[in-house]
Amino acid sequence: MLVCVPNVLDAAQLVSLRERLDRANEAWVDGRVTAGYQGAPVKFNQQVDERSEVALACQRIVVPALERNTLFISAVLPNSIYPPMFNRYGVGMKFGDHVDGSLRIHPHDGRKIRTDVSATLFLTNPADYDGGELEIEDTYGRHSVKLPAGDMVIYPASSLHQVAPITRGVRTSCFFWVQSLIRSDSQRTLLYEMDGAIQRLNQTNADEIARRSLIGCYHNLVREWSDT
Ligand code: NI
Repeated sequence: MLVCVPNVLDAAQLVSLRERLDRANEAWVDGRVTAGYQGAPVKFNQQVDERSEVALACQRIVVPALERNTLFISAVLPNSIYPPMFNRYGVGMKFGDHVDGSLRIHPHDGRKIRTDVSATLFLTNPADYDGGELEIEDTYGRHSVKLPAGDMVIYPASSLHQVAPITRGVRTSCFFWVQSLIRSDSQRTLLYEMDGAIQRLNQTNADEIARRSLIGCYHNLVREWSDT
């Protein structure tokens, strides 16, 4: 399931993030430092050293915003969020087709995190660069994603995807992975759609007993399918 989550960050948070990232010259490193053997040959970008002060400061802006975002919570049902990372692509940079690694080691506490969901939070307005579309393949074909600054796309980490070459400007983004309480994308999709239907029913004068029963089914399915 591919879901676009609008307005994860507000204008003030975006300015704060971009100022920190744009002046963090020494923290930007070659993106291949975290690429596996599959990604390294096709990855041409820069990213912020994930242990740097600027990365930690930016994570303190992004993570609380994620934890407050009800659409993100409903669609992802997060168990562990890998600390968000930050990358940028200048003219000629790109990241060819790849599938994200299945397990990552948490940089602060050494825990293993299974990457169920991949996320890209756009930090540059589309008018400020050309190219740089995130192209994601699923069973329905290839989707080209380029969102306003502050918006985020989430998609199954099992998807083949790429970032198209930049032909003008610089594209700065935040990216991360989530281990979901629900490992299966199809089960997560069902729960997301069911939760959406319940939210809509909650806003109407829907039959109270039927609504309660449906909410019970939702929670019992989460109980049945979740791992913690
Ligand atoms: Ni990727």
